[in-house]
Amino acid sequence: MQVLTTREALISWRKKAQGHVGFVPTMGALHEGHLSLVRQSLTENDWTVVSIFVNPRQFGPKEDYERYPRTPEMDTRLLQNLGVSAVFMPSESEMYSPEDEFHISATRLSRLWCGGYRVGHFDGVALVLTKLFHLVMPTRAYFGEKDFQQVRIVEKMVEELFFPIQVVRHPTVREPDGLAMSSRNAYLSPRGRAQAVALYKALQYLHALTAQHQNTAFLIEETLRYLKENYPDVEVEYLAIVDEHSLEALEHLRQSARPRALIAAYVEGVRLIDNLPLSPVP
Ligand code: PAF
Repeated sequence: MQVLTTREALISWRKKAQGHVGFVPTMGALHEGHLSLVRQSLTENDWTVVSIFVNPRQFGPKEDYERYPRTPEMDTRLLQNLGVSAVFMPSESEMYSPEDEFHISATRLSRLWCGGYRVGHFDGVALVLTKLFHLVMPTRAYFGEKDFQQVRIVEKMVEELFFPIQVVRHPTVREPDGLAMSSRNAYLSPRGRAQAVALYKALQYLHALTAQHQNTAFLIEETLRYLKENYPDVEVEYLAIVDEHSLEALEHLRQSARPRALIAAYVEGVRLIDNLPLSPVP
């Protein structure tokens, strides 16, 4: 496995990689969720490149950029064992210059849900992915559905800006109790970890309710009541029922062929997200 730290080294590696190239962009602190994306890429491509870069532009001033877990030795060992062809681990100055002027923003998709609370977050994601896509020139790029809004934004960006890349979605990988895997789970104490399953439990509860109820205001209200009663320490930021494609809120499940519930909540000050498809609508 080649460990590449400069753009120049990546570009020269890429010139030699003939055939299909799979790309898994990450911020490191790799867990089974990332590794399952890598495994899928390895089976579908001749070469697999993984990037590890904690992208400062997607963190707000009060967010966890400094504290974000960084485990480069363990990450590279895991990727080497899986048989990854190359890992790209650039420094900040390799990716950004103080003279940079361009932004990539989605006018609507980036401002909904998580984007409303993490202002500028998706612009930072779109910018770093634009740069990485230009350097890696992958055939396919792999994203986990846990960050569902991110997946939709990347799909729309690739479609609208004509990136010759296939975006591949991978289902959320969960812990045995249902908690969605995330690098941020490492911040939780054992008590917080036990509470964190609330997000998945709430989504399951909501899903079960859809057998009887299709009015989304009722479904949301009832699920929030369930959360308050069973997981009092969990602070919900938003719970929404949206159309999976447009991410617009639905009033009634039948308004969409593919409704999906999205949730963001704080546990011990740690921001967690999850989502669940609600179709088929009964
Ligand atoms: O999902 C992530 O880890 C990041 O948002 C990504 C896609 C690697 C961009 O920095």
